[in-house]
Parts: sequence; structure tokens; C-alpha cells
Amino acid sequence: MKITVLTLFPEMYDGFLNSSIIKRIIDKGLAEIKVVNIRDYSFDKHRHVDDTPYGGGAGMLMKVDVVHAALLDNISNDYTYAILTSPKARPLKQEDLERLSKLDEFVIICGHYEGIDYRIEKYVDEKVSIGDYVLTGGELPSMVIIDGILRLLDEGISSESLKEESYTDGLLEYPQYTRPVEYNGDKVPEVLQNGNHKEIRRYNLKMALKETMLNRPDLLDKRELSEEERQLISEIINEI
Ligand code: ADE
Repeated sequence: MKITVLTLFPEMYDGFLNSSIIKRIIDKGLAEIKVVNIRDYSFDKHRHVDDTPYGGGAGMLMKVDVVHAALLDNISNDYTYAILTSPKARPLKQEDLERLSKLDEFVIICGHYEGIDYRIEKYVDEKVSIGDYVLTGGELPSMVIIDGILRLLDEGISSESLKEESYTDGLLEYPQYTRPVEYNGDKVPEVLQNGNHKEIRRYNLKMALKETMLNRPDLLDKRELSEEERQLISEIINEI
């Protein structure tokens, strides 16, 4: 997979691309990430990339001609998928990351200042928000998108933990523990110590349901519950 990021702040990606799992995935050749400075596409000698908005209003807008030139120079053909980070979009979900992880190549345009001239929207395939709040720019959102996609490509992660995610699909993750077996009086649940896979699976599903009921009940409303899940939920309600 090749991902190109168009940004005014390329230096923000240094730590991100050179750390931990992301670095490993890139080093393994599973993904190539190219970071491009939009300022290199400015047309004037002062390298301006922004201007005041027509009709007045606070702040500056990124210029459509500069951003479009950067985009055109970084797509290999008309079919290269183009994503624009923007708070004015539907918030990103895990299923979006799964869909995007199947693309061979895409470009992410990071907005900055008060945004980009509206006419840029004609040249993008999708706008992505990472949540209902406003950040100073699209750099952190682009890293969120890249991180969420690259972990799906990672061979180390894909096998076991992705399988786990699919059986508790649409639920929050169940609580997990590591040594010591007791900390400040809190013990690791017995069932997780005894190694009975069937019981562990059932217990973890029950705890995932409980976490979801307590923290994101809205997710349960959308889910078609299996008979086993219904039973586990009544157990949880009886225990509360
Ligand atoms: N740019 C500023 N805020 C943003 C958000 N929440 N998501 C995506 N891009 C943004």
C-alpha cells in the first residue's frame, strides 16, 4: 500500500513514522508513506499557501490552486483515491479503516488554518473527520487514519488479535490482565488463570458485553444479539 500525505507540516510525521509498530510495518515493506510539503507547490516567491476569505470572516484559507497542484502531482492516475481531513464529515469508524485498508494507493490532504477553499471538494473522493471536535489541522487526523489502517496490514497483529476483534465485533474490548496475579488487593479473575478455553471465551464475551453496556450502550442497540449474548446480558443484569 502506498499512502501520500499532503501537509504544510511534514516535520510532524517524523516521530510517528519512526516509532514502534508503524516503523516495523514500513520497514517490512508492507506500506510506503510519502509526506509531501504543500508549500512546495506555491506559485509566488513568498511561498504563500493561504489567503483571506471572500466575504470576510476570521482567519485564512488554504488556496485551492496550490492544494490542487500538490494533489495532481502526487496521484499516479485519475483513480488514486483522495481523502480530505475535515471536521465537517461523518466521524471515522473501524469499518471505514477496514474498507480503506483494501486500497492499493491513496492520498490524504490535511487541511489547516480555517480550512481549504471549498472548491477543493470537487477533487476529493471522501472527507473524513476523526470526531465531533475541531483541531488545528488535519495532521493528527491523518496519523489516526494511517495508524488505524497500518495495524490492519501488520502480519504480527492480523492473526490472533484481529480474530479476537471479530468475535467481539461491535463490542468494546473485554478487560485484560498480566502479572502480578494480585495488585493492591485486586486479583486476576480465577477463570482466566485456569486455562479452560471454552470458559475463558464465554467469560471474555460476557465482560465485553458488560464493558459495552456500561460505557457505550448505544452500540448494543445496533447489534443483533445471539442467544448466548442475551443469556450473558441477563446474567450481568442479575449480578449488578
Ligand atoms: N481538522 C480539524 N479538526 C478535524 C477533525 N475532527 N477531523 C478531521 N480533520 C480535522
